Amino acid sequence: MSELAALAQRPIGVFDSGIGGLSILRALRAELPQEDVVYVADSAYAPYGERDEALVRERALRITQDLIDQHHIKALVVACNTATAVAIAELRRLHPALPIVGVEPALKPAAASTQTHRVGVLATRATLASAKYRALQTSLAANTTFVDVPCDGLAAAIEADNTPDIERLCQRYLAALGPLGHAPGDIDTLVLGCTHYPFASKILNENGAQGLVLLESGAPVARQTRRLLLDAGLLNPHNTGSVRYLATGSDASLRWAAQHWLTP
Ligand code: DGL
Repeated sequence: MSELAALAQRPIGVFDSGIGGLSILRALRAELPQEDVVYVADSAYAPYGERDEALVRERALRITQDLIDQHHIKALVVACNTATAVAIAELRRLHPALPIVGVEPALKPAAASTQTHRVGVLATRATLASAKYRALQTSLAANTTFVDVPCDGLAAAIEADNTPDIERLCQRYLAALGPLGHAPGDIDTLVLGCTHYPFASKILNENGAQGLVLLESGAPVARQTRRLLLDAGLLNPHNTGSVRYLATGSDASLRWAAQHWLTP
């Protein structure tokens, strides 16, 4: 077997602070059902969104190194907006030969599709404060007004599957966006800029987001992963499509969420 063919048999590494990355994994499974995946939830350090950049960067570098050393991954998907915002440049600098895909809030598709030219962005405090996010928003600000709302506590509530808290926080953050709808001056599009938030879509819809366009990033991340693997000659249609779930702390949320959100 050639060296490339052997490399292609290795798994893809995927990580997030917790269960949020499962919304990306769901899209990856649909796009690349035969690829093997090792998923790491950094539950010992979750949530990332209200921590300082240095810690999140350190965790992203540590987890990536472990995925390389212990699981011999052929590619990495950073399934977390916060970790992507603060660590992806450093990860690419340290691992130039490793295909790396990150996730960013879907501002570009939002700017392309909004009719009212007002878009709400729900994301973690750390993502919204990052230089990477500020640059992305500035590049699109000519035709679209983005209303950012840092959603403190929401990823943690989703992680804990605490429905009353998820409801309370969704109501608070939707209210903070201002008028929602399709009239001039309304926000007609919501960017779910944290990979945990797609798991709150139903509650968002029940609390005022019904009829708005809700954008998440799973499908584009999965397509980009396919492109990078193809370009590197690393696509493997013959693997079994296994997923190994690992957690750095408690794995209770991860086991429940994988069962709940990923089993067809
Ligand atoms: N799911 C992550 C994100 O996309 C992190 C959420 C958190 O841990 O605060 O930003």
